[in-house]
Amino acid sequence: MLKELLFLLLVVMDASSGSHNSWCDPGCDCRVDVRSTICSRAFLTQLPSRVSPNTKLLDLSDNHISVIPKRSFSKNHKLQVLLLQNNNISVVEDGGFSQLEFLSKLDLSWNRISTLTEGFSIGLAFLRELQLAHNLLTSLDSSSFLHLDGLQRLNLTSNSIHTIQVRTFSSMSSLRQLHLENNQLSSLRNGIFSILRSLEVLNLAGNRISETEIGIFKPLTSMSLLNLANNQLSTIYFKTFLSIQTYSTHILLEGNPWNCDCDLQRVFQKLRSIQRLFLDDYYNLTCKAPPVLQDYRLMEVDTELCIAETVTVLIITATVVITVLAAMLMGERMRKKEQKEKHWTQQCLVKLT
Ligand SMILES: *[C@@H]1O[C@H](CO)[C@@H](O)[C@H](O)[C@H]1NC(C)=O
Ligand SMILES: *[C@@H]1O[C@H](CO)[C@@H](O)[C@H](O)[C@H]1NC(C)=O
Ligand SMILES: *[C@@H]1O[C@H](CO)[C@@H](O)[C@H](O)[C@H]1NC(C)=O
Repeated sequence: MLKELLFLLLVVMDASSGSHNSWCDPGCDCRVDVRSTICSRAFLTQLPSRVSPNTKLLDLSDNHISVIPKRSFSKNHKLQVLLLQNNNISVVEDGGFSQLEFLSKLDLSWNRISTLTEGFSIGLAFLRELQLAHNLLTSLDSSSFLHLDGLQRLNLTSNSIHTIQVRTFSSMSSLRQLHLENNQLSSLRNGIFSILRSLEVLNLAGNRISETEIGIFKPLTSMSLLNLANNQLSTIYFKTFLSIQTYSTHILLEGNPWNCDCDLQRVFQKLRSIQRLFLDDYYNLTCKAPPVLQDYRLMEVDTELCIAETVTVLIITATVVITVLAAMLMGERMRKKEQKEKHWTQQCLVKLT
């Protein structure tokens, strides 16, 4: 009863004083009715001190906040959406987001975060979406996302990530989208995607990947889109893609420096015949090597790539056939000669006796 009265009082206060009540910092727009606090572009250098405990949406985007101190939101445990994009955040203290048990979306894109410690994700077990694009991350390991069991969408676009340790995503069995485009990845270790059974979108475009280990995509049994465009692939292994066990997966491979030889032609020919795989941008793949084929589309030359090889095979076959025939002829001649000699010897013997 007392609680309800208090709430009523709050509502009345809010209605009478507009957005400038005791729960609203200067520069913020506080809407008790819709439980949102909007402090976007308010020139804040630190977190506002008076956010209503009933707030579900807190928008702090486009400010100059640089630190998220420990237990910053301990009075705002009803928060569901927290927007912090476009600030100057470089430090998230351990437990900075703890006690946000209802938080489902956290946007930290366009900041200066360079490391994620274990304490970063404490208390975020129900987070569904984490935006971390355009930060300064360079490597990820098993502690980076340790407590994010419920995460469905992770956006790490445009960082400088060059290393992903094997157990980095090991708590995320619900993850559906993983965006890693525009980073510095050059190789992918077998096992880094091993738990991601729900993953539908894996975006690796714009990295430096030159090799893919054969079993790397095998665990991704829900993957419907694999984007490997704009990497450093010059060739691929058939088995890497054959091992994708899904109903249907679209694969993008444009913008790689393909080495257009007969092997590549064969791999693509086989891949294109697999019904569950769709090479959507096959018609846009261009050759980087050999030099005579540079900038040609693979599609335009693919029927000729194995011709040289076919000719070689034909020549070898012909040589073998001719050799065998010659040997047979020689053999036949020898046999006849021997027979003649035998005949002659026999006649001589007959004459002698
Ligand atoms: C951003 O934070 C750095 C320290 O991390 C500080 O030197 C710089 O002045 C801040 N920039 C702005 C625009 O607040
Ligand atoms: C990822 O972040 C970038 C940059 O903020 C944004 O443009 C893109 O839409 C995001 N992607 C998803 C799927 O959230
Ligand atoms: C192929 O490239 C053209 C021009 O860059 C683009 O418009 C088209 O969408 C690409 N096709 C596919 C399937 O990606």
